[in-house]
Amino acid sequence: MAEEQAQESEKTIESMLAEGRKFPPSDDFRNRANIKSMEEYQKLYDRSVAEPEKFWAEMAEELYWFRKWDSVLLWDPPFAKWFEGGETNVSFNCLDRHLKTWRKNKAAIIWEGEPGDSRIFTYHQLHREVCKFANVLKKHEVVKGDRVCLYMPMIPELAIAMLACTRIGAVHSIVFGGFSSDALRDRIQDSGAKLVVTSDGSFRRGKRIPLKSNTDRAVSVCPSVENVIVVNRTNLEVRMKGQRDHWWHDVMEGESAECPPTHMESEDPLFILYTSGTTGKPKGVLHTTAGYLLYVHMTSKWVFDLKEEDTYWCTADIGWVTGHSYIVYGPLSNGAASIMFEGVPNYPSPDRFWGIVEKYGVNIFYTAPTAIRAIMKDGDEWPARHDLRSLRLLGSVGEPINPEAWIWYYKVIGKERCPIVDTWWQTETGGILISPLPGAMDIKPGSAARPIPGVVPVILREDGSEVGANEGGYLVIKQPWPGMLRTLYKDPDRFKEVYFSKYPGFYFTGDGARFDEEGDFWLMGRIDDVINVSGHRIGTMEVESALVSHDVVAEAAVVPMPHEIKGQGLYAFVILKEDVQKEESLKKLLRAHVSKEIGPIAKPDKIQFADALPKTRSGKIMRRILKVVASGEEDCGDTTTLADPSVVDRLLRDRV
Ligand code: WT7
Repeated sequence: MAEEQAQESEKTIESMLAEGRKFPPSDDFRNRANIKSMEEYQKLYDRSVAEPEKFWAEMAEELYWFRKWDSVLLWDPPFAKWFEGGETNVSFNCLDRHLKTWRKNKAAIIWEGEPGDSRIFTYHQLHREVCKFANVLKKHEVVKGDRVCLYMPMIPELAIAMLACTRIGAVHSIVFGGFSSDALRDRIQDSGAKLVVTSDGSFRRGKRIPLKSNTDRAVSVCPSVENVIVVNRTNLEVRMKGQRDHWWHDVMEGESAECPPTHMESEDPLFILYTSGTTGKPKGVLHTTAGYLLYVHMTSKWVFDLKEEDTYWCTADIGWVTGHSYIVYGPLSNGAASIMFEGVPNYPSPDRFWGIVEKYGVNIFYTAPTAIRAIMKDGDEWPARHDLRSLRLLGSVGEPINPEAWIWYYKVIGKERCPIVDTWWQTETGGILISPLPGAMDIKPGSAARPIPGVVPVILREDGSEVGANEGGYLVIKQPWPGMLRTLYKDPDRFKEVYFSKYPGFYFTGDGARFDEEGDFWLMGRIDDVINVSGHRIGTMEVESALVSHDVVAEAAVVPMPHEIKGQGLYAFVILKEDVQKEESLKKLLRAHVSKEIGPIAKPDKIQFADALPKTRSGKIMRRILKVVASGEEDCGDTTTLADPSVVDRLLRDRV
């Protein structure tokens, strides 16, 4: 039965693709949408580009300000200041603003735990918890501008801690709970965090991962950390250190639920989020207060067609930017109900997502292609077990979505009723830059469609000239937008160098792209040494330095390889030290070592032991050749510039 279904859906997918068809929204969707037609989008877009300051000033009226701004934009490339002179507060906009409306006792966060437990916070309740924790932070001498590191599972306390930081002007730096203690240590040291919030452990497929002991190891070499607050999530045994460590439930007990919001200046730092680049050292992307909030607020409305009565679910982890912008800040500032899920798509069974959609009547569902591919593989019978009629819009983020996955998502999950928004953006951009607006556009599977109002993407050739239709090039952004990163934390030179030096004055995305004859954008993936694994960015350099930090390794090179579920996987070429035997068991050891250094997501999928790497006479590794080997292809192209062309044959022969 399942097989028949699969064959049937394969046939339909093929025919839908062959048609090269566009998928318009239904009249019903269009009529109710925030942006209802291409004309309406075009008018909005044209105005946003012709008079950006006037446009964004108008949009900014949607936020609550303690003091209005003096100027909309001060642009001294590459440094932007939005809404200078204005004063606002992010937690006030996400919470207090709703308390005098009907939203006061509607759900703000609907939380579903991995084991199946759940908790719901209304805006009123969430406001109380946030104020209480803000008071706890104050008691532990956290003041405006201090950094607070959050290393936590997907539990409500994470959102509470974030909002509490914004309430008093502390800068949060969230470290994904899947990162190792070494990765945590580097990020705490770079940000100089004064306080860490963590939990005893986190659940992962029924197993308990020890977060507190990771934190202990990291913090033991982080003198900036004065206090650690620990949420009890999994009842793991932990060691609490005298003056330093405190249980969340103890410090919250009896705390006052009143905490006036600090009036933050527009450009006061809001958060730091570390992301991988082309060197081994993660970049501390810095976002600031008003521009970021406005940008995620508006894009939530435009792209997700979000309305206050929506039940909205983004399946990302808050440890990544997607969760910051589109689980917490965007949805809450719009007064929606945001679902927060602790688990994974296929535990305890492959219908976990669909059970949650049914349970809460989810209207808008936003996930990653890697999750879609994994679920698709498990078969159509799993979604078929659930009532998915509440869904009205689907979204995708993190990597290009292949048309097969797109069509499956459209048919099997959306029942051909729900538009799909393929949203292109980055940690640095703060929010979505290119995406269909679902009520306005006919959607092409695999295309991210059009720029968001206020965003001017341009595709350039190497020499800086603009490409024509269907010609690939470097994607850059021409004008500043309110959600853009302001700098790299404590490293403005690197900020300039990475994003504004290749084409001065333009923001360099690091992605390749083309636009088609109708002006729709198609993203082509990274053009630098960054690999997109399951929608997460891994720097090849980071993995290489983790590998060579092991005793047995002399040299390593890591390149992407195609991967059925993850999109891209990691293929590592490793040269062992002279006296070390090439034993299979070493591979396991090296994978574990990378996992310890960075985290399980950075573990190489394949390791090939080699005698030498393909290098030019000047000693530069020709990664192009390694990519061919890793992808299972044969044609390595021109190898004449190699110092020793015979290396290539040996690499191809020993391929794993
Ligand atoms: C990189 C940014 C944006 C939140 C998640 C990842 C790739 C992201 C898409 C998309 C094609 C995409 C790009 C980008 N990417 N969304 N819809 N289509 N590629 O954030 O870790 O900062 O990674 O993810 O290559 O540069 P990130």
